[in-house]
Amino acid sequence: MSSSEITGTAQIEEAQGVPAERAGSVRLDRVTHRYGRGGDAVTAVGPVDLTIPAGEFLVLVGASGCGKSTLLRLIAGFEEPTHGSVRVSGIAPRPGETAGVVFQTPRLFPWRTVRGNIDLALRYAGVGRAQWAERRAELLARVGLEGTEGRRVWEISGGQQQRVAIARALAAENPLLLLDEPFAALDALTRERLQEDVRRVTERTGRTSVFVTHSADEAVFLGSRIVVLTRSPGTVALDLPITLPRGDLDAEELRGSREFAELRAQVAHTVKAAAAA
Ligand SMILES: Nc1ncnc2c1ncn2[C@@H]1O[C@H](COP(=O)(O)OP(=O)(O)O)[C@@H](O)[C@H]1O
Ligand SMILES: [Mg+2]
Repeated sequence: MSSSEITGTAQIEEAQGVPAERAGSVRLDRVTHRYGRGGDAVTAVGPVDLTIPAGEFLVLVGASGCGKSTLLRLIAGFEEPTHGSVRVSGIAPRPGETAGVVFQTPRLFPWRTVRGNIDLALRYAGVGRAQWAERRAELLARVGLEGTEGRRVWEISGGQQQRVAIARALAAENPLLLLDEPFAALDALTRERLQEDVRRVTERTGRTSVFVTHSADEAVFLGSRIVVLTRSPGTVALDLPITLPRGDLDAEELRGSREFAELRAQVAHTVKAAAAA
């Protein structure tokens, strides 16, 4: 199998000249971000050049403090770059409109039911009330939470809460999904299950995804491409397409394969070297 057959349609289309301005594509040109002013200013990230074609699952890896969350916030439009430009689908990102975002903790309304949390997202997304029930059922089915509408947030597990947060991020029909260490606070088993679910969801919806993690294992399992950042201010240390035979193997076979182990070792080694450099 050639690498283009297994890295997904986005790369193939880009190779065939389909413009990167397609819905969900991301382009960072010489992006630098600094917090604060004058003598107290901290350069958090950059300069970074990065083009993410529509439909790609890009995983961003790097040591704590290297600027991963800052890059995600720039792509979401929560921050504006100090230098350079950020474009999503060819235009400047707009907070709350450009991307669905999933954070490390679910950030749900704990006193509301699962239904209440999802409906709030549907309302913000501009979905008409008449369609809420159908859309909600569809979203909850996608993350494996059928039948939980009536449960209060504090009655469900941490893993289930993070599933609600993912469903909420999918509520708006925008083509970009940003996930900032979404599984870091979960136990290993739940984490592996959610990784498989996220892969399935994004494959089915075709959304462009940018996923931040410090785990080389998680990066190789999820990514169609891995970008490793140097230590702060982060710049691109490694940009690696991941060409694993995903269609042919189940999750366990994939994790147990020699190719998986080799890639994981390469990514882990680069992260360590980049953090020390
Ligand atoms: N709101 C902020 N104000 C000032 N400095 C910040 C702010 N957010 C992050 N930083 C600094 O920017 C750098 C990168 O942070 P961050 O993007 O959170 O890194 P990461 O997500 O890779 O851990 C760090 O040095 C951090 O202390
Ligand atoms: Mg972070």
